[in-house]
Amino acid sequence: MRLTASFGAAMASSLAVCRLHMKGRGSLVKYLRKVDSYLHRTIGTNVFSAQEEREGCKSFHAAQAERQEQAERSVLISCHTRTNEKKFLKYLSMHGDVNKYFFYESYGILYAVVEFANRESLPSLFEEAAIPIVSHEPMVPFKSRLLSLRHVGSADPPNQQSGQRCQSQTTIPINELIQRLSKEESIEQQMTSLTDVYQVTEENSRLRFLVCSLLKDIAAAYFPECTIKPFGSSVNGFGKLGCDLDMFLDLDGISGRNAKMPKSGFLLEYQMKQTNSERAVTQSILSVIGDCVDQFGPGCVGVQKILNARCPLVRFAHQPSGFQCDLTANNRVAMKSTELLYLYGELDPRVRHLVFTVRCWARAHGITSSIPGAWITNFSLTVMVLFFLQGRSPSVIPTLDHLRDLAGPADKSFIEGNDCTFVNDFGKIHLQNNSETLEKLLCEFFEFYATFPFNKMSISIRQGKELNKPEVAPLHIQNPFETTLNVSKNVNATQLDRFVALCKESSWILQKTEASKPGSCNGEKAVAPWGLASLLVPLQVAVTKGRKKRRPEPASERIKSLLASLKNPNQQKKS
Ligand code: GTP
Ligand code: MG
Repeated sequence: MRLTASFGAAMASSLAVCRLHMKGRGSLVKYLRKVDSYLHRTIGTNVFSAQEEREGCKSFHAAQAERQEQAERSVLISCHTRTNEKKFLKYLSMHGDVNKYFFYESYGILYAVVEFANRESLPSLFEEAAIPIVSHEPMVPFKSRLLSLRHVGSADPPNQQSGQRCQSQTTIPINELIQRLSKEESIEQQMTSLTDVYQVTEENSRLRFLVCSLLKDIAAAYFPECTIKPFGSSVNGFGKLGCDLDMFLDLDGISGRNAKMPKSGFLLEYQMKQTNSERAVTQSILSVIGDCVDQFGPGCVGVQKILNARCPLVRFAHQPSGFQCDLTANNRVAMKSTELLYLYGELDPRVRHLVFTVRCWARAHGITSSIPGAWITNFSLTVMVLFFLQGRSPSVIPTLDHLRDLAGPADKSFIEGNDCTFVNDFGKIHLQNNSETLEKLLCEFFEFYATFPFNKMSISIRQGKELNKPEVAPLHIQNPFETTLNVSKNVNATQLDRFVALCKESSWILQKTEASKPGSCNGEKAVAPWGLASLLVPLQVAVTKGRKKRRPEPASERIKSLLASLKNPNQQKKS
């Protein structure tokens, strides 16, 4: 469980309170430890130094391994909305101790994620599970850990009231977020509150790993030693509730033992089919797994095989979780980028708050989009934030080259000829003493990119400095590991211009706004957007009756009119 710097906001947030209701001592202890360390940091005692705190951070691999292992002991069960929680638990406990469980809703159906304490409980549970009795439709007899709970007989009717507390798997709408942020006391608090509301929750993270684990069961029909790992924003620390689930089919476990000449004088080898290229192998594996997901995967719908993309993938929707899934294979560099982003996010809490804020701001203004196109991607945007933080004086985070220099022998990693080495041990990383506030960093971020010489210079988090642009693309962001590539190659001049214009405008608004909540805005009623909230006010609908596009007003104008309409509700009605 993650607790950000805003202890007050987190405690006030109903989400955080809900999270405390999660069963399980482990998360509670971790939560309290983070609260504890936050208090020490805020109050200024030296009991925990920032360095010590970093040393306590879980490495990316350790965090992933823990979640993967939990997922393998878990099942996903669709239930009646009025299922009696106590009886349900009692029933499950007949098969073994339940470590954790929670309920959530997807497409109007109630689901329970149930994690048993031991993997051995699963066969016992499956022993009890029956094949559905339906008379009219034939079905694929594929048994998985996605189950349905039915109420049979009259001995145990469902509750009259629905009693389960559902864990939300989606974020609040932007207007609600704007209102919530407007009630905060400072821009700093607005930024931490935004992270609290938007970030992937502990439950959502468990669900993501469980979906990977369910898919692994399908792929294991062909490759029993494979694993399916989430990557991208699901696990890099910058994921928003509702973000897509990027998955990586890892077949490295199959690569076999190092062939040593046995004493017997015999060497036994597997006979394997040969193909033209690695890419062809990836394409054929994904094609077959894609078919299996399509034909046998319970709850997997809309399967598309996009095998000719630069990175071949299978895309589908997993209905029980509500996740949009992208399954790739042989995508090790992306996995490394994920690990790097995770590391940066854990180094200093300001990194995550600033990235969340900038990502949310960009989405509110249509700078990023869920549809592929000439837009800046969340990944590029995150790299831009990291680059900006490296350039502060003193720097907030180190350069990738520095992290490579700190690496030990166990950190060495070369993928397809690219040096992907960087240190994994948080204890070896010593940060400079930058104490800039979040508010200052946000202001400076907009100022920095409002005036960045995009026409000549490229962004490199490897070196942490601007480089001469090697190609003519409007926006050049060096790929951190495949350094000859540009991660923002798709961005056109129009989109870059919009980004720059919005940075200028946002910088202007922040400079005008007061550092803390304007006194006149107190009270329970709707509060006029101010500070960060005013930066998120969405573009007004650009389509008029005649379907003619209207030029959107500058954000400052929109905010002025919004403020006026809030002061005078009658005027708002008229307009
Ligand atoms: P969301 O928009 O929340 O999904 O963010 P995301 O970080 O998951 O981005 P996306 O789903 O587009 O990509 C998943 C991961 O693939 C990223 O986190 C990166 O690790 C990697 N990735 C995405 N785009 C690029 C790129 O252009 N180059 C490289 N090297 N990696 C990329
Ligand atoms: Mg993603």
